[in-house]
Amino acid sequence: MFYDEPVQLRSGDGVWLHAVDGTRYLDLYNNVPCVGHANPRVAAAIAEQASKLNVHSRYVHESVVDYVERLVGTHHEGIESAILACSGTEATEMALTMARTVTGKRGLIGTNATYHGNSSLVGQLTRLPVGTDRDGIRSIHTPQVFRPLEAGLSDAELCQRHLDELEATIASFDDDGGFAGIMLCSILANEGLPAVPAGWFDQAIAIVRDRGGVVIADEVQAGFARSGNMWGYDTSGFVPDIVCMGKPMGNGLPVSAVASSHENVSAFRAKHRYFNTFASSPLQAAAGMAVLDEIEDRDLVASVASVGQSLLGAVRELQTDHPKMGDVRGHGLFVGIDWVRPGTTEPDVAGAAAMVEALKARGMLLGKAGEHGNVLKIRPPLVFEHEHAELFLDALAGAVADAHD
Ligand SMILES: Cc1ncc(COP(=O)(O)O)c(C=O)c1O
Repeated sequence: MFYDEPVQLRSGDGVWLHAVDGTRYLDLYNNVPCVGHANPRVAAAIAEQASKLNVHSRYVHESVVDYVERLVGTHHEGIESAILACSGTEATEMALTMARTVTGKRGLIGTNATYHGNSSLVGQLTRLPVGTDRDGIRSIHTPQVFRPLEAGLSDAELCQRHLDELEATIASFDDDGGFAGIMLCSILANEGLPAVPAGWFDQAIAIVRDRGGVVIADEVQAGFARSGNMWGYDTSGFVPDIVCMGKPMGNGLPVSAVASSHENVSAFRAKHRYFNTFASSPLQAAAGMAVLDEIEDRDLVASVASVGQSLLGAVRELQTDHPKMGDVRGHGLFVGIDWVRPGTTEPDVAGAAAMVEALKARGMLLGKAGEHGNVLKIRPPLVFEHEHAELFLDALAGAVADAHD
């Protein structure tokens, strides 16, 4: 549980959460109920469908087909087909297996500070040290400019160092199962949203393709407008072969998916008889459809981009007088503050934890992320507006000033 004194919640509405002791909190953790807590449209869609029919996927239900078609239609052209599941882990598990199936190779790569889920296969990716192998999975250092691999390099040199490491890691599979692909959260969320050396995504993806690997974008955190684009890969500027989606998809109802070309999905289905009891249900489709309706009708991509940009700008302004805020970065409504010992890039893990508690005391709920767990993670619902940002910024300014006293 989060916090020294866990929060016991009673209800939520929109961007607000209400605790049993009567305290009202602004939700800056979110990620799952993305179109707001107790969203009336999503709740009504779930209730209506539940009162009509909810069955497993061994019968045809038009709403499931409509939902999947609409969902893949929000992606780039190469994403044509999807398989629904119930958790992000199930989606990433299918994606890794699909990569191995379509390439006939075994070697998979992730970053060394990642998390993509907790099954026996996907869990191998979790914080996998560079230079080790777990089940045919190896890692590369998280590309980043704030704590570079080596001091004194230019941005271009740093980028090249990371690309060389990727090349070498791919090559390490040459006589050892071959290379199947890479899985990346498209905004490196669990890695702490690091700014990457310019051009890294582009060139890394080109190397992976050149070496016959497939590119898997994990959109479980990055997707559904979070980054100010519908998909995190649009924000980072690359085109994946396989996409994993989850968390915000059903606003809290368990819905996830892996999506790819017809060819890849068919190859996966032909080899693995994937069945998931609670997935592809009319109930999932109803919730998923209502979330897409909310994102579209409320123009949430544009709103996230606009509110996110001013939030990021304001947090950066605050940073100028507060050296513990080592780096402020992010995309859309996902901002990270890298909390450090002043004048250094040394992570201040205890300081970040104290900030999370201090902000809770000011009615703000947020979390921590990153390789060292020192990055304050500001990730409110997509329906967070400028007025809510003002409230948060006041609280943040107070807590940051106290931390620097
Ligand atoms: C980027 C990413 N991928 C996948 C997952 C796994 O999702 P789930 O917890 O629904 O299995 C998570 C969960 O935190 C995640 O952050």
